Amino acid sequence: MKKKIAIIFGVTGQDGFYLSKLLLKKNYIVHGIKRRSSSVPTKRIEKFLNQKNFIVHYGDITDTSSIQNLISSINPDEIYNLAAQSHVGVSFFTPLFTANVNAIGVLAILEAIKNHKKRIKFYQAGTSEMFGKTKDKFQSEKTNFNPQSPYGTAKVFAHQITQNYRDAYNIFAANGILFNHESPMRGDNFVTKKIVSSLTKIKYGKQKKLVLGNLYAKRDWGHASDYVEAIYKILQQKTPDDYVIATGKDYTIKEFVNKTAKILNLNINWKGKGLKEIGIDNKGKTIIIVDKKYFRPLEVDYLKGNASKAKKILKWKMKNNLNDLIKEMIKHELNELKIN
Ligand code: NAP
Ligand code: GDD
Repeated sequence: MKKKIAIIFGVTGQDGFYLSKLLLKKNYIVHGIKRRSSSVPTKRIEKFLNQKNFIVHYGDITDTSSIQNLISSINPDEIYNLAAQSHVGVSFFTPLFTANVNAIGVLAILEAIKNHKKRIKFYQAGTSEMFGKTKDKFQSEKTNFNPQSPYGTAKVFAHQITQNYRDAYNIFAANGILFNHESPMRGDNFVTKKIVSSLTKIKYGKQKKLVLGNLYAKRDWGHASDYVEAIYKILQQKTPDDYVIATGKDYTIKEFVNKTAKILNLNINWKGKGLKEIGIDNKGKTIIIVDKKYFRPLEVDYLKGNASKAKKILKWKMKNNLNDLIKEMIKHELNELKIN
């Protein structure tokens, strides 16, 4: 049987790693698109680079000509767009760049798909940040969008233009609405990775303090390897549609800190309030402090998803719970620190 060909925009990121692994296992030919960088951008996907079914090309989704050239020369069956300026906090500092990549870049891919000779299936990496400030206790495909950041706002455009091209041009274009998902491959400046990495180093005397922002936002955290299974399934359906992917459980940042500390056998006593809140260890040493520089001009206070549609139609199932995820992330940190 002829091998399927996929393009992954955003192949060098966390989800790019897990999706490449999954598609290679399914015998796809995977074309990953990397950006030019002054350092090595392919660290996460290093182990795939010598495989004959894994080919990496330079490209950038803000460069319309590079997208058109790649799509016409590769002639893929499926395109997964994971490329984004994916940090919500940073999007307040780089709003125009974020909008160019996260919104206009998506439109550029859709235009290239519209003009291509073959029918290509398209996945757009949407986000629970699109719900923003919501009154719904659980957010589903029916919940209204009310984004609270340049990141979330740009992603709403991407979501809606994907639906628009699906309806107007009969393109197989589908949106995932994924809640937070983490892994050992998570970028260093996302809160889970920062907490796990810092507390592990503190436990082994290699760091003094963990500095955090808002401890009381709630997030619904899953494992990236489970979420890319859903991404794949979304493109294997007969008809394109949009799906929420979530665990249905939410925790505060402080609860995530406490869970990680417990697994590490670190005791934390909390004292104080607001910017003066601190976490103290058994010996009375302050190991966690709050700094306003990590607060955002607007916050999304809580996110908790209802993934019933994905469970019913995609038959999507999660394999990892939050404790499994934290344990795996800690194990990875210990390996990095060469501690067994
Ligand atoms: P990530 O680790 O930050 O990866 C983002 C990827 O996009 C990287 O490969 C990055 O390349 C690439 N990229 C950025 N700008 C680009 C451009 N102009 N042209 C081409 N590539 C570009 O993010 P992730 O966690 O894997 O998330 C994947 C996607 O899912 C993103 O779109 C994100 O917004 C969305 N999402 C993520 C979550 C989550 O919790 N992880 C939840 C919902 C939705 P470099 O390596 O060169 O920076
Ligand atoms: N990054 C970070 N760093 N966040 C902190 C910190 C800190 O030091 N302290 C507290 N937080 C809070 C943030 O204010 C936010 O409420 C929460 O921790 C989670 O922050 P992030 O881990 O940066 O993730 P996010 O929820 O803003 O965005 C992630 O999930 C989205 C899906 O809901 C990203 O992966 C997005 O790309 C994704 O769309």
